Amino acid sequence: MRSVLRFLLNGRQVMIDRAPATRTLLDWLREDRGLTGTKEGCNEGDCGACTVALGRLEEGRLVQEAVNACILFLPQLHGRSVRTVEGLGPEDSVQQAMVAHHASQCGFCTPGFVMSLHAARHQGRVDHDNVLAGNLCRCTGYGPIVAAADAAADAPPAPWIEADRAALAALQDDEDLELEGGYAPASLAALQALLAGTPDAVLIGGATDVGLWVTKALREPAPCIFLHRVRELGAIEQTAEGLRIGAGVTLARLRGLMAGRHPDFAELLRRFGSVQVRNSATIGGNIANGSPIGDAAPALIALGARLRLLGPEGFREMALEDFFLGYGKQDRVPGEIVESVFIPAQPDRLRCYKISRRFDQDISAVCGCFSIHVEDGRVAAARIAFGGMAEVPKRARETEQALIGRPFTEAVVAAARAALEADFKPISDLRASAGYRLRVAGNLLRRALAEESLPLSRTRLAGRGAA
Ligand SMILES: Cc1cc2nc3c(=O)[nH]c(=O)nc-3n(C[C@H](O)[C@H](O)[C@H](O)COP(=O)(O)OP(=O)(O)OC[C@H]3O[C@@H](n4cnc5c(N)ncnc54)[C@H](O)[C@@H]3O)c2cc1C
Ligand code: FES
Ligand code: FES
Repeated sequence: MRSVLRFLLNGRQVMIDRAPATRTLLDWLREDRGLTGTKEGCNEGDCGACTVALGRLEEGRLVQEAVNACILFLPQLHGRSVRTVEGLGPEDSVQQAMVAHHASQCGFCTPGFVMSLHAARHQGRVDHDNVLAGNLCRCTGYGPIVAAADAAADAPPAPWIEADRAALAALQDDEDLELEGGYAPASLAALQALLAGTPDAVLIGGATDVGLWVTKALREPAPCIFLHRVRELGAIEQTAEGLRIGAGVTLARLRGLMAGRHPDFAELLRRFGSVQVRNSATIGGNIANGSPIGDAAPALIALGARLRLLGPEGFREMALEDFFLGYGKQDRVPGEIVESVFIPAQPDRLRCYKISRRFDQDISAVCGCFSIHVEDGRVAAARIAFGGMAEVPKRARETEQALIGRPFTEAVVAAARAALEADFKPISDLRASAGYRLRVAGNLLRRALAEESLPLSRTRLAGRGAA
């Protein structure tokens, strides 16, 4: 086991012996390195002022992704490269375009926008509305910023890309890493050995939840075990039976996987947090946190997904809906991890609807997912699941039964709406009242009916931006 964390910062190698497990990159950049171009706005992943480009090697290529430094812990940088706004260089075309298009006023948000656009340009992305959904500006307005983004989109790559790529290649290792207050194992076997000794360790996937425990709740979780380096958890396996997705797969990657299989799920994931959040957050974390408003679970339940856990006794598998026992309570024992989720192969019938107070970068008030199979005019099978309607992501079994065997018509849907009240007793909170939630859930069922005959590449997805 090694104890020295290694990564590249603006092209230079950094080494930290026994790095503190929950020191955020933002605090370290600003306080230890004096790199104050990266700003602290919200310190909870919402505003994008702290955006940096996180690089990794993929098939020998340097991939750079925008991430929020405020909820990224130092151990997540091992073997990676970090570029901050200071590292882009004076000739950087994004910054030149921001100046030329008057895209900055007070300037507080500007480094974050620049870094998001730098990462987008590196990836060849031009869907700037999506790319910038996680960057907030309170004074300039987005028109000039998007104009600058469009102007810089075709600029040649930054001159240091090849040097970063080569330097990063020399930094790769697959040793387990010891931290101050935790570990970052590189294999499932090492993870299991660590968990055997510390079954109550705090597991950290992408840290988009755990980061807030530290920055907002001022908790000091310990010991921490990071999962992002465990190679088996990043695996994706397609077979004739279906798709197995490792718990460490990020939501950005999952979105790409779903685009060709279940496009509505991909569209739902496009509205999951922001680019920065999706680049860090993992599917394992989104399931394991058991949140009643987690967005992935309703879609996965509607797809009949199965969850695989790995604990001291080996693997255990269950229908995903059975994992959620009650508020904050999941069917998981100490020392056990969410290892993967399996989506059975099936024709795509999935409809996903996310209702939130704001279209982008908001948590669901209600998330409804429907997989309804109509044959000869009658509902042959139905799997319906909702988030935001109960204390857990929950399947609407009574509603399904009210549909199965009957024609999929307005009259049957009207009757099935009543069954929703048997399935759910939602609460009122700051996102929505109980009455609103029930009414919206019923309306989404109607919408699923109205869209039943539409092709899945239907118009509501058009114009919403590229992958
Ligand atoms: C700005 C912002 C916007 C967000 N928007 C959305 C949204 O639109 N929709 C939504 O659903 N969520 C949203 N979230 C919540 C969060 O991003 C997701 O829940 C995310 O998927 C958590 O994944 P993670 O890998 O970051 O989890 P982490 O923070 O690493 O962990 C979350 C919890 O799961 C546990 N855990 C992690 N991985 C495993 C594992 N493999 N096995 C067992 N336990 C594990 C951790 O111990 C912890 O309790 C948002 C968060 C932020 C900060
Ligand atoms: S400071 Fe707002 S997202 Fe990090
Ligand atoms: S320029 Fe002031 S917040 Fe964007």
